[in-house]
Amino acid sequence: MRVAFLGLGIMGRSMASNLVKSGHEVTVWNRTPGKEVEGARVAGSPAEAARGSEVVWMCVSDTKAVESVLFGEHGVEESLTEDMVVVDSSTISPSATRKFAERVRARGAHYVDAPVTGSKTAAENGTLIFIIGGEEHVIERLKPCLAAMGKQFFRMGEVGKGHAAKLVMNLQIAVIYEGFVEALTLGAKLGVDAGTLLPLINASMVRSGVVEYKAPFVLKRDFTPNFPMRLMHKDIRLALDAAKEARVKLPALEIVEEVYDVAVEDGLQDEDFAATITLLEKWAGIQVKGQSA
Ligand SMILES: NC(=O)c1ccc[n+]([C@@H]2O[C@H](COP(=O)([O-])OP(=O)(O)OC[C@H]3O[C@@H](n4cnc5c(N)ncnc54)[C@H](OP(=O)(O)O)[C@@H]3O)[C@@H](O)[C@H]2O)c1
Repeated sequence: MRVAFLGLGIMGRSMASNLVKSGHEVTVWNRTPGKEVEGARVAGSPAEAARGSEVVWMCVSDTKAVESVLFGEHGVEESLTEDMVVVDSSTISPSATRKFAERVRARGAHYVDAPVTGSKTAAENGTLIFIIGGEEHVIERLKPCLAAMGKQFFRMGEVGKGHAAKLVMNLQIAVIYEGFVEALTLGAKLGVDAGTLLPLINASMVRSGVVEYKAPFVLKRDFTPNFPMRLMHKDIRLALDAAKEARVKLPALEIVEEVYDVAVEDGLQDEDFAATITLLEKWAGIQVKGQSA
């Protein structure tokens, strides 16, 4: 397929590269020039990249970024044609997405929200999980692209529900991870080594994918960003905004947001979100160690 890929960050670059490797004809664009993908043509604007494409795929930071890529100067809107499919794999606001989709559809094009779960490694390996909102016949057309970048996809319903479900997923990751590192910190203070605690966690019902994935990084003290703190902070805020719109109270997430507020104030925004443990350690005056891990 002729695909325009917009946004070559941690995720987008590997996703675009996997599209090229699967034989799609890819044109890429990134706000800051200089980022390229081997085998792809580079365009000077979203409008230029979109011109003549069957599919326009976005993976940028946040709601404002998507709005500007679509409707800003030389945005995708300039090149929209009948039947073109616009796909958004960023994680952004579900309500804003519905508005963007209306504007795109007014021009006869289609809109699909397809945020992803799986981090940098899954993007590199083409094993992302797509969480999709949109019409079934449109999603059907995207299958060759989805197969190039991911291993599974789940349709949540109409446009906006992909992002809604993605926020619900990240709410759980943020709260589960906070529980895990609070447990490690208290354990350390009570003299229980993290390396001794982990096999117990993994043998019990406390076991979780979040813990399995993050524990090795925590024990190695490796906080290089797979999923940067600033993006998880954004997703927590998006979930809280969506909860406010839906008149739902999320007390645990509200408290976790405060931890992220402090972490960002402390300059940790570009570290992986796993680095929130360092705040707990600072407050407890101890560092978690995994001697026997
Ligand atoms: N990393 C993960 O593990 C992960 C997992 C699942 C979902 N996501 C979601 O996927 C999206 C991208 O994440 P990422 O990790 O690839 O982020 P990233 O490395 O920070 O890249 C962000 C991309 O967005 C672009 N961008 C930011 N503001 C823009 C604007 N106003 N206009 C146009 N482009 C703009 C950046 O361009 P510049 O190069 O010019 O800054 C860059 O290409 C986010 O919504 C994130 O929440 C990430």
